[in-house]
Amino acid sequence: MNRSYVAACRERCIQRGLDPEIIPVPNVLAVNDLTERKERYHDILEMTNFFANKLLFFGKYPVVLCVTDGQAVILDMYGDEGILQSVQHMGLVLGAVYREQEMGINTVSLALEHNKPIKVLGNEHYHTYLAESACYSVPFCYEGRGGITGTLSILTTLENATDMYLGGLLAVVESVGRELLLRKQNQKLCMLNQILEEQIIVSEKFSAVGKLAAGFAHEIRNPLTSISGFIQLLQEKETVDYKDIQYFEIIRSELARINKLVTDFVGVAKPEVSTVRQKHDLKNVLGEMVVFMQSQALLCKVEIVYQAPDTSVFLECNDMQIKQVMLNLIQNAIEAMPDGGQIIVALSEEETGFVSIRVQDEGGGMTEEKKKKVLQPFFTTKENGCGLGLSVCLRIIENHQGQIEIDSQKGKGTTFHIKLPKG
Ligand SMILES: Nc1ncnc2c1ncn2[C@@H]1O[C@H](COP(=O)(O)OP(=O)(O)OP(=O)(O)O)[C@@H](O)[C@H]1O
Ligand SMILES: [Mg+2]
Repeated sequence: MNRSYVAACRERCIQRGLDPEIIPVPNVLAVNDLTERKERYHDILEMTNFFANKLLFFGKYPVVLCVTDGQAVILDMYGDEGILQSVQHMGLVLGAVYREQEMGINTVSLALEHNKPIKVLGNEHYHTYLAESACYSVPFCYEGRGGITGTLSILTTLENATDMYLGGLLAVVESVGRELLLRKQNQKLCMLNQILEEQIIVSEKFSAVGKLAAGFAHEIRNPLTSISGFIQLLQEKETVDYKDIQYFEIIRSELARINKLVTDFVGVAKPEVSTVRQKHDLKNVLGEMVVFMQSQALLCKVEIVYQAPDTSVFLECNDMQIKQVMLNLIQNAIEAMPDGGQIIVALSEEETGFVSIRVQDEGGGMTEEKKKKVLQPFFTTKENGCGLGLSVCLRIIENHQGQIEIDSQKGKGTTFHIKLPKG
């Protein structure tokens, strides 16, 4: 500990013309200001409170323990009733500002200034009213809390002076630092836990849906088959007129819609998607899907541009499932452009051993928030949507050991990137 700090401080007190015989009166913060500051130091004060009692019973003489902030404001005080009352006359009260300018030589301002533990004993103080006192301060700076600074300080009688107080204060400052770090790590773990829990909820949704799916699909497909059969019989009747044909057409398209719903639903829900795979030329698989979707796209004033390499792109895959993925993505892209636009379907072979598929639209795009949710089953923003299309895609691509990435900006369109490993 460098005592020249104290000597230099004494010089400054003389220059300022402080009278050593007059007990200085510190500035004291207004209650509101103090409450605000205490709020910022809330967890530090809570922890020092825990350690305070241990320090107070260190020696057999009365001790006052103070916590200050980085501007030397006393935020908290500990000690027995008697001593707390007697130090009030020295200006040692909650909210008092222990600046050198007003208070002369004091360990709080010295510790903050030099960022070191400081002790000042008896006559080393500038003011004579402190001639029988021993003061100790240890500064703190907690990086994890945005570099929050302050001191832990002890005031006791000179006869009670021992460097053990500095050791005790140092130990508390360190313990509080460790505890703050632990709390921060805990917070991170809590957040991680929350994310994991959300994922578990999603996978539970899958398994619950899985159990329901088989029965559900069966129950719906049975009546569908008989309705389809009867419709066919009616269509073959000789007395069918023009109006009936229109009605049959509506019934038939509605049946097709229900059938798609059931197929999608089972696709998401089935614990495992079919593993039958063969070598297919993706250039053809995708090309067929583009042709298939072209007529629906034209009705919606959408043009589908297909960009594929000149040569074949072979991949071990389930072609029907890949077609299902393309259908869902193109369907979504068309639905994202109610006023028409262009869709680019691009296929390429990466040197890194991957096949890339890109489906890009010029629709309304999505926010970051929405992007996080779209792959979850049953998430939909469409009046007649089921929110299953993308879940089916994800399932299929993951079953092919691939990945889906979404690039989207609100108002600027969306691109789905699919990466499938060749090996
Ligand atoms: N290309 C896209 N542009 C903007 N939003 C999209 C796009 N694709 C999907 N979305 C959003 O993601 C949601 C979920 O899509 P998903 O395909 O899973 O279900 P859906 O289209 O709503 O219903 P369906 O089960 O009939 O496909 C959509 O409702 C839409 O809000
Ligand atoms: Mg969809």
